[in-house]
Amino acid sequence: MKTQYYTATSLDGFIATEEDSLEWLFSLGDLDQSSYPEFIANVGALAMGSSTYEWIITHEDELIAEVDAAWPYTQPTWVFTTRELPAVEGADIRFANGEVGPIHEEMRAAAGEKSIWIVGGGDLAGQFYDAGLLDEIIVQVGSVTLGKGKPLFPRRALSPALRLKSVEQMGESMVELRYEVRRGVSA
Ligand SMILES: NC(=O)c1ccc[n+]([C@@H]2O[C@H](COP(=O)([O-])OP(=O)(O)OC[C@H]3O[C@@H](n4cnc5c(N)ncnc54)[C@H](OP(=O)(O)O)[C@@H]3O)[C@@H](O)[C@H]2O)c1
Repeated sequence: MKTQYYTATSLDGFIATEEDSLEWLFSLGDLDQSSYPEFIANVGALAMGSSTYEWIITHEDELIAEVDAAWPYTQPTWVFTTRELPAVEGADIRFANGEVGPIHEEMRAAAGEKSIWIVGGGDLAGQFYDAGLLDEIIVQVGSVTLGKGKPLFPRRALSPALRLKSVEQMGESMVELRYEVRRGVSA
């Protein structure tokens, strides 16, 4: 029943280019060969910001080719935005705006025994961290640098608040790092 920020990042800490491209990521490996299948099987609710959502809905054709669906998740998904955005037909999408705390309670109730996945971006994950609601950060660090882009986690989180729990190499292109976020421990 954890709240986890699970994402891929470049070595220099960006999860997308400035133009929201993820092309750099796709050459790094196959999702099915990663921890993703096991991870998503235990997710009961998702949260994402509007750029992440807009990336998904503008790449519908690729998703249909890859996962045979225009929307890749069966779990309820909260999309944070201050704007009116189109929904995806047949998907359980709930638009949210403002403080993450009350939304987290709704997500907790929907997720039951399963985990909450903060998909991104980095500042949204930071908002859950600021509210003391983040339990883990799980990052697949790709063997690439981007120089600039959308930040992984634009917050100051020091040891001992952040504790490295495991390291797993995935071929020559990725390494997965799992961090526990110790709630209530000041950095
Ligand atoms: N590498 C990976 O595995 C990975 C994982 C996830 C995402 N990504 C990519 O990384 C990029 C992330 O983009 P991003 O950094 O711009 O972050 P984002 O979280 O996807 O979007 C940020 C936007 O969400 C809205 N928002 C955030 N918090 C809010 C709140 N509390 N209430 C209301 N609205 C809120 C705001 O936009 P508005 O109010 O204007 O709507 C904000 O500008 C995307 O391109 C995404 O595809 C990559």
